Amino acid sequence: MADDKKIAVGADHAGFELKEKIKLLLSELGYDVVDFGTNSMDSVDYPLVAKALATSVAQKNPPRGILICGTGIGMSIAANKVKGIIAAHCVDAETAKLARLHNNSNVLTMGGRTANSDVAGEIVRTWLNTGFEGGRHQRRIQEIRDLER
Ligand code: RB5
Repeated sequence: MADDKKIAVGADHAGFELKEKIKLLLSELGYDVVDFGTNSMDSVDYPLVAKALATSVAQKNPPRGILICGTGIGMSIAANKVKGIIAAHCVDAETAKLARLHNNSNVLTMGGRTANSDVAGEIVRTWLNTGFEGGRHQRRIQEIRDLER
């Protein structure tokens, strides 16, 4: 399968249920899903899931990922500590669109306790189908890369 049809997903206990729904959507959309867990509602620490998925996505294996915790905020904070990751916490289709157009995010984070599954589906579809605008935004992404040195 082409790399652009591969995607990683991961969640903590608070994101587990939404992750399972998003996996179904991704399969329907023809994506090959790599699941970094967790696989139950038993409590787990979101930074560990974020680290595993983000390390893999930073190596483009696969090139994009979706992380879900209670709010999406903790996953975003943790994933953004991994060099090469631009994780964007999105709450609706507009933030998802801009997280691709302007930020070229390679990780999407969402809140399992804050986004209903319809909105989450809309966020995922928009994020997957929107490209990076480049231009002045490329310079800004490079300025973020410079912070990693
Ligand atoms: C877990 O209770 C919760 O703190 C976590 O899922 C997440 O929302 C952290 O940002």
